[in-house]
Amino acid sequence: MASWKLCAWTVIVIVCVLGKISGLDNGLALTPPMGWLAWERFRCNTDCKNDPDNCISDRLFRTMTDILVNEGYAAAGYEYINVDDCWPERERDARGKLVPDRERFPYGMKSLADYVHSKGLKFGIYEDYGNFTCAGYPGVVGHLAGDAATFESWGVDYVKLDGCYALPADMDHGYPEFGRQLNLTGRQMVYSCSWPVYQIYAGMQPNFSSIIEHCNLWRNFDDIQDSWASVESIIDYYGNHQDVIVPNAGPGHWNDPDMLIIGNFGLSYEQSKTQFAIWAILAAPLLMSVDLRTIRPEYKAILQNRKIIEVDQDPLGIQGRRIYKHRGIEIWSRPVIPIHGQYYSYAVAFVNRRTDGTPSDVAVTLRELGLNNPAGYRVEDLYEDVDYGVLSPQTKIKVKVNPSGVVILRADAQPAFAYNAIPTRTPYTLNDVFRLTKKK
Ligand code: GLA
Repeated sequence: MASWKLCAWTVIVIVCVLGKISGLDNGLALTPPMGWLAWERFRCNTDCKNDPDNCISDRLFRTMTDILVNEGYAAAGYEYINVDDCWPERERDARGKLVPDRERFPYGMKSLADYVHSKGLKFGIYEDYGNFTCAGYPGVVGHLAGDAATFESWGVDYVKLDGCYALPADMDHGYPEFGRQLNLTGRQMVYSCSWPVYQIYAGMQPNFSSIIEHCNLWRNFDDIQDSWASVESIIDYYGNHQDVIVPNAGPGHWNDPDMLIIGNFGLSYEQSKTQFAIWAILAAPLLMSVDLRTIRPEYKAILQNRKIIEVDQDPLGIQGRRIYKHRGIEIWSRPVIPIHGQYYSYAVAFVNRRTDGTPSDVAVTLRELGLNNPAGYRVEDLYEDVDYGVLSPQTKIKVKVNPSGVVILRADAQPAFAYNAIPTRTPYTLNDVFRLTKKK
C-alpha cells in the first residue's frame, strides 16, 4: 500500500473512533467510491450483433475489469466495475426474479461478479425504485426484498438505485426501505441513490438528513453529457447551491455530481483537467465512464494523477467550496489533512471560465485564500508536479490559468516549529506556469 494511503486510512480510523460519523451505518464509502461505470460512454447499446465490442454485455465488463487491473487504474485507487441500465431481460422470470439478458450476459451476473472479485475489484449493479428503469427495464417496486436477495446472491458490492417511473413523494420511504432490505441480506453494499434529484425536479425540498442517513452517495443534478457545457452546468450548480449541498458530504455519505467523462469526445485536454480537479475539490465519487481500450495517454494520466486522487480521497471528507467568482475566474478550495492546531491544509483550484484565447493571470496571497497559518504552508502544483517550498500567509502567488483550464495547488499546513524554515530566498525564479512574488 502506498504510504499516503496508509496515512489516509490511519486518519480515517482515528476520525471514526473519536468522532461520531453520522450517515448510512454500513461502514462503506468512507472516502468517495472510485471505479468505472458504463452509462455515459456506452449508454443502452444492446446491439451485440452489429456492435459486439461496445454493447452492454458480459464481455465489455470483463474487458474493463482487466484494463483497470493491468493498466494502473486499480493501483491508483479505482475499485468498482459498475453495470448501469439495460442489463436485464425485459421481463422477470416466472418466480418474479430479475434475469440478466440471456444473450448479452450468457453466464449470469454471479459469474461476472466472481470474475471481477477474482481480480481484486468490486462489482456494482443498477436498478430503479420505480416500475421501470429509465430505459424501460423492470424496476424494483413490488420486489424490494426479492431483488435485494438476488443482488446478495450474485455477490453485488454496490447498487445504484435510479428514480424513473416512481413518484418522488414515495421516495422518502422507498429509498430507505430498499436500503433496509439490502442491509438485511447481511452483505455490505454501497448504496447510491437518485432520490434528491428527482424530488428537486418535482419542486420538492429533499430531506437531506434522511438521505445522508440512508445513502452512501446521491445525485443532486442533471445527468452528465459528453460536452464542456454539461460539465460547466454541473460546476455552476454545485457552486450556486453550495450552502445547501456542501454540509451533507462526509465519510460514508457523498454528493455525486455524476461520472467523469475524461477521455471521451467532448472535452479538451484543459477541460478534462478541470473536471478532474473540481471533482476532487467536491469530494466526488470518481466513476470513469470512458472506453479504457482506446483512451489517449494524456487523458489516462489525468485519471491516474495520484496527487489529485489523494485530494479527492482525503480522509476528513470535507467537500470544498467556490470561494471566489468574478469575471470568469473562479477559485475553489477544500480543507484537507494535515491539520496543525486550528489550521487546515487546503487544495485550491483556480479555474478560468473565460473564452478569450490567452491564459489569465490570477494573483492572490495565501492569506486572501484564508490560509493564515503563521508557520506557513508547503505549496505544490498538482498537475505540473512543482514543489514551491514553504510559503508564509503573506506570500503572493501568481498562477497562469489557460482558457477553460485549471491550476490546482495543494498547501500543506506546517507545524509551528517549522516557522523558521520558511525560505527567504529571492528572487523566486520559477517557471512560466506559476510565478511567485514575495509581498514587500
Ligand atoms: C438516469 C440516470 C443515469 C443513467 C440512466 C440510465 O438518467 O441519471 O445516470 O443511469 O438513467 O437509463
